[in-house]
Amino acid sequence: MEEPWIGDSSRGGAVRVLWPLLLACLAAQVIGYKPVIVVHGLFDGSSDFVNLLRFINEANVTHPGTNVSVIDLFDRAYSLQPLWKQVEGFKEAIYPIMQNAADGVHFICYSQGGLVCRGILSTLSDHNVNSFISLSSPQAGQYGDTDYLKYIFPQFVKSNLFHLCYTSVGQRVSICNYWKDPHHQDMYLNSSDYLALLDGERPNPNATMWKKNFLRIKRLVLIGGPDDGVITPWQSSQFGFYDANETVVEMKQQDIYLRDMFGLKTLDARGDLVQCVFPGVQHTMWHSNETVFTACIQKWLT
Ligand SMILES: *[C@@H]1O[C@H](CO)[C@@H](O)[C@H](O)[C@H]1NC(C)=O
Ligand SMILES: *[C@@H]1O[C@H](CO)[C@@H](O)[C@H](O)[C@H]1NC(C)=O
Ligand SMILES: *[C@@H]1O[C@H](CO)[C@@H](O)[C@H](O)[C@H]1NC(C)=O
Ligand SMILES: *[C@@H]1O[C@H](CO)[C@@H](O)[C@H](O)[C@H]1NC(C)=O
Ligand SMILES: *[C@@H]1O[C@H](CO)[C@@H](O)[C@H](O)[C@H]1NC(C)=O
Repeated sequence: MEEPWIGDSSRGGAVRVLWPLLLACLAAQVIGYKPVIVVHGLFDGSSDFVNLLRFINEANVTHPGTNVSVIDLFDRAYSLQPLWKQVEGFKEAIYPIMQNAADGVHFICYSQGGLVCRGILSTLSDHNVNSFISLSSPQAGQYGDTDYLKYIFPQFVKSNLFHLCYTSVGQRVSICNYWKDPHHQDMYLNSSDYLALLDGERPNPNATMWKKNFLRIKRLVLIGGPDDGVITPWQSSQFGFYDANETVVEMKQQDIYLRDMFGLKTLDARGDLVQCVFPGVQHTMWHSNETVFTACIQKWLT
């Protein structure tokens, strides 16, 4: 028996209108615009990312249903807590989000947060991070006189901070965890409880496992630039760093790259290492600059 509504043109019209919407929703569910997790940096907090959220939402016209979580932990002064502690705290908040994301998630990790994210990625054996976007993060360490340094350690300058940083007391302050004095490399290797371990520069029984875990990411996107003003040298955002003469040696000449200590060279050989260098962006502007978002971030959030 023929149903009375078959051939009803008004219903057909509704279907034609709804169909694209339905498809878009299905695309979000099936193809999956993966949840994005944002980890903040030194002295900032989740409220600093309103522009980034807006950029992602606007991109949502083509990326329907993207769920962004800016993790609200270790804000402001609490960001000085040691990085292993932050890794554990952020991990606890992030893990459930990963478990709810069948197709995986993306990380956008800003400044010091980029080092926290590396700690998470290295120590979490079942993470499902696709893009790890490192947004002006001192990945190769920090050595510079900046306003941040003056504020945290007013009695110190870059040339004498090693006295404090390379002690067990110093290592309880986040910035000392990645302070890398090119004139005191032996002390750095002996005392850095975070970066030297993560980089595999100091022998560590977990290094092989950490490398395997880290390499679960689909790609690493390194964003930074010469007008940053905080990350010193700015090339640290690209895994470049000072030699003993304070001359910058680029990533591909660095020991940690050449010896593939934690997977950088492997990522590069896989074609999964993206570098995005922009002039004209100050440190606190990276997450709020739409040019940077469009050129270096948006396309990796699919
Ligand atoms: C976004 O993700 C959070 C954390 O997993 C979850 O609680 C929330 O329900 C999600 N929102 C949507 C709209 O999917
Ligand atoms: C490094 O640590 C070892 C063992 O604790 C110690 O003997 C050595 O003097 C330290 N070297 C430096 C440069 O601090
Ligand atoms: C190595 O991993 C184990 C288990 O995760 C952990 O208990 C231990 O502290 C790690 N060792 C180092 C040197 O980080
Ligand atoms: C540093 O400079 C000195 C003196 O100019 C030079 O002899 C030495 O080879 C340089 N070291 C490096 C690592 O470039
Ligand atoms: C945004 O980035 C562009 C490209 O590097 C730069 O020219 C511009 O000055 C930046 N704007 C701000 C407000 O940082």
